[in-house]
Amino acid sequence: PSLSEILNLHDFEAIAKLVMPEKAWAYYSSASDDEITNRENHAAYHRLWFRPRVLRDVTHVDWSTRILGHQTTMPVYITATALGKLGHPDGELNLTRSAAKHGVIQMIPTLASCSFDEIVDAAQPNQVQFLQLYVNKDREVTKRIVQHAEKRGIKALFITVDAPQLGRREKDMRMKFEADDPHEVSKSGDKVDRSQGAAKAITGFIDPGLKWSDIPWFQSITKMPLILKGVQTWEDALEAYDRGLAGVVLSNHGGRQLDFARSGIEVLVEVVEKLKEKRGVTLPNERFQVFVDGGVRRATDVLKAIALGATAVGVGRPFLYAFSAYGQDGVDKALQILHDEFEMNLRLLGANTLKDVVPDMVDTSNIHSHVVAVP
Ligand code: FNR
Repeated sequence: PSLSEILNLHDFEAIAKLVMPEKAWAYYSSASDDEITNRENHAAYHRLWFRPRVLRDVTHVDWSTRILGHQTTMPVYITATALGKLGHPDGELNLTRSAAKHGVIQMIPTLASCSFDEIVDAAQPNQVQFLQLYVNKDREVTKRIVQHAEKRGIKALFITVDAPQLGRREKDMRMKFEADDPHEVSKSGDKVDRSQGAAKAITGFIDPGLKWSDIPWFQSITKMPLILKGVQTWEDALEAYDRGLAGVVLSNHGGRQLDFARSGIEVLVEVVEKLKEKRGVTLPNERFQVFVDGGVRRATDVLKAIALGATAVGVGRPFLYAFSAYGQDGVDKALQILHDEFEMNLRLLGANTLKDVVPDMVDTSNIHSHVVAVP
């Protein structure tokens, strides 16, 4: 189908499934165990309902904002997803170029298929990029990566904390991973086990020993703001706040780690409540920014998170599916769809800017009532 027939972000998934290499589909779409959390991530947004306001002159609407002090045309960033070349020969560069064109921020993954420098080189002057970090057992390697990133102008470091061991992604495990791109594998520095899918083949270097008391070391080796990606309780969010981190991403890694982890949007509700109750902090907040990812497919999903206090949300798979099927044009289209959805939905909510999208606009009374549908 031509791009003009794509009407929403879900459409990219349906088309990508038909046209992508089977191994890429298995790696991108897979989630852990019974994939309950993966389905829940989007379903959780269905338990939040709007309370829009009327008669507010919404001729002019503006959904631009700032993430960690950096301007973005919308409260969405492209989150880190590994192995971009499985889906398209240009891999992550599709994302970099499209992010530049649309004025959004890209988070570069540690395990990108393209090299880190290639991705930074492909950016426009002043284009903002963040780095996602998997922490190596060899801290000298990690230190080199972090300091090199800072030197290359990366603006923030997102340390992934939900993956001390990879979840079982059975769809992916059924595929034997062949590294056509030696770069994907060499970065780990470890012996590569190709017998159990792409994920297992590339992640042997990640340190399961990472702990809270390592945080000061990260703070000592870089001036970049540090954000923990993969926080799933208010207790850990408050610990991050107390330790002077710049923020957290409430995320379950797209349902690819602990199955039956709750959705980021549900966790946001308790984090907002406890930050206020125990620390007197209200969101959104400049000093401590809270992000959400997982299952975000519509501007309405994003606006629910914004209403509750998130600074911005991350979107992963839709962009992977978009470039796998259509290259950069697909990512451009996905971002254009989101822009159009923001414009319409801000008007329908009765909000001129994101500042007008307030907690009273969302009914959260059902957020904790999970119903797990049998697949
Ligand atoms: C991921 N994610 C991820 N996260 C991370 O910290 N490091 C990584 O290398 C990857 N790699 C990765 C690969 C693929 C194929 C997917 C789908 C996801 C998780 C990602 O950053 C994010 O948390 C989720 O993708 C968000 O959910 P959606 O938008 O994909 O539903």
